[in-house]
Amino acid sequence: MKVAIWGVTGYTGSELVRYLVRHPEAEIELLTSESSAGRKFSDVFPSFRGTIDIELVHPSELESPEVDVVFCCRGHTEAMDVVPGLLEKGVKVVDLSADFRMRSGKEYERWYGVKHRAEELLGEAAYGLPEVYRGKIKGARLVANPGCYPTAVALSLAPLLEEGLVDPEGIVVDAKSGVSGAGRRPSLKTHFVEVYGDVCPYNPGRSHRHTGEMEQVLSELVGRPVRITFVPHLIPVDRGILSAAYVKLTEDISTDELLGIYEKRYAGEPFVRVREDLPHTKDVWGTNFCDVSVRRVEGTEVAVAFAAIDNLGKGASGQAVQNMNLMFGMDETLGLR
Ligand SMILES: NC(=O)c1ccc[n+]([C@@H]2O[C@H](COP(=O)([O-])OP(=O)(O)OC[C@H]3O[C@@H](n4cnc5c(N)ncnc54)[C@H](OP(=O)(O)O)[C@@H]3O)[C@@H](O)[C@H]2O)c1
Repeated sequence: MKVAIWGVTGYTGSELVRYLVRHPEAEIELLTSESSAGRKFSDVFPSFRGTIDIELVHPSELESPEVDVVFCCRGHTEAMDVVPGLLEKGVKVVDLSADFRMRSGKEYERWYGVKHRAEELLGEAAYGLPEVYRGKIKGARLVANPGCYPTAVALSLAPLLEEGLVDPEGIVVDAKSGVSGAGRRPSLKTHFVEVYGDVCPYNPGRSHRHTGEMEQVLSELVGRPVRITFVPHLIPVDRGILSAAYVKLTEDISTDELLGIYEKRYAGEPFVRVREDLPHTKDVWGTNFCDVSVRRVEGTEVAVAFAAIDNLGKGASGQAVQNMNLMFGMDETLGLR
């Protein structure tokens, strides 16, 4: 299977290369870069010297791609102008940006402040969370790879919501992300001196764009509106997300019973691990795993659902490979463990 990556010099693009070089069925055919066209991939990322030395080409080469699948690793608002042309040429697409994640142009505009320019594809795109949408992903030519926070939060809450155990309108999510979640382009906010030794919240309440995506997937899961108060934090680590979702229980149920529900829900899922102890970001670093756990808070009606992922693994490039595997009818774990 011939693969192209559009925008390979970002964090998600280069992480995809790391997964694909060990994928037994994938051959990296075309790597595009606007910022580094003409240079070798291994000159931009010397750890790949002797492994992937191919020359980076300008994104215009995607106009006639001789590949089976393109991973889009550029920012949102860019993919919507490129993806329709790729699909017309018969190429399958996994888009890591947010451009095809929302179900309607109206919702996209609400959260991203831009009118969608390929609205006709929003109904067709499969939301690439295999643990919920595996069937649709298998037949898809376009997969919208989920955001990092929504992946962690949806996987931590799905068992509780599916079993009707929580009030879907009163969920509070506190989450922490490593700095690579903000991408590789330099900015003052992600400058080492600003970040090192600091922890801060950002876009709290209902202002972070991922809030709409989390609510969309969880509402579809339970067939009624889910409302989330979301407070993300930036923490001084390179990668990793830890989320804690606080929910009001509708039944008297113990931690052991809750863990049993999680075990049953994720039995057979290759990349979700239920932990009796609490998840750590270090345990999922560089992997496509999502570690989840849950606790009932003694003497209250509150439960806390936890998840840890690598934002560049299950939160982006690992999950993108899992989706590619499903789209092409392969074992979904190929290249991932
Ligand atoms: N980072 C995450 O944890 C994460 C998780 C889930 C989804 N996503 C989404 O995936 C998409 C790509 O994210 P990303 O984190 O890979 O973005 P990024 O690191 O900021 O890279 C985005 C693009 O910027 C260019 N670029 C990279 N480094 C640059 C530099 N130093 N100067 C100028 N241009 C540079 C690259 O394009 P060229 O090679 O063409 O120049 C790259 O494709 C985004 O839509 C993002 O929202 C990211």
